[in-house]
Amino acid sequence: MIRSNLQNRPAGPTFASEYTPEQRNTGMTREERMKNSVTHVCKAIFPNTTNHYDTLFGGQALGWMDEVAFITAARFCRCDVVTVSMDRTDFKKPIPAGKIVEMIGRIVRIGRTSIQIEVDLFMEDMFSDKRESAIKGTFTMVAVDDNRRPKPITY
Ligand SMILES: CC(C)(COP(=O)(O)OP(=O)(O)OC[C@H]1O[C@@H](n2cnc3c(N)ncnc32)[C@H](O)[C@@H]1OP(=O)(O)O)[C@@H](O)C(=O)NCCC(=O)NCCS
Repeated sequence: MIRSNLQNRPAGPTFASEYTPEQRNTGMTREERMKNSVTHVCKAIFPNTTNHYDTLFGGQALGWMDEVAFITAARFCRCDVVTVSMDRTDFKKPIPAGKIVEMIGRIVRIGRTSIQIEVDLFMEDMFSDKRESAIKGTFTMVAVDDNRRPKPITY
């Protein structure tokens, strides 16, 4: 069982396997879970996230999008998930410093142990309502047990 560096956690369930099915799913249907797992995260493009062109560094964007995909998948299946694949990601527009971005994660496919999440990143002007799609990518997450082996997604 892989449980390192967690000795100082507060009391109460910490691992997915410590929750009963009733605690994990309070009765939502698959459709409700899909709707409720849609995840929105906003960021301001500050200088510590840009490259030497003064635009958002692509690796930073991918890291944020992977986190959004992770949160979306975890909210859907309420279990441990890991990223197994980042599929095609299109960087459609450079994102200058001073913009706001909004990332939206949505589940697009549910497999046996894997789940596919599409993440759209929109760029917004700080001082106007202008908003456009800038990056889009698809991520595959796998539900894992306490030994980090794939396990069926249940909901
Ligand atoms: C994720 C991991 C547990 C999968 O183990 P595995 O032995 O390859 O698993 P399997 O071959 O049984 O595949 C499990 C599922 O993943 C899918 N999968 C495996 N490799 C994939 C890939 N490259 N792309 C898309 N899906 C993939 C399979 O299709 C299967 O999906 P399904 O059950 O819905 O049909 C293992 O590859 C791993 O630990 N990878 C490292 C994860 C990691 O460290 N991520 C970064 C930090 S979160």
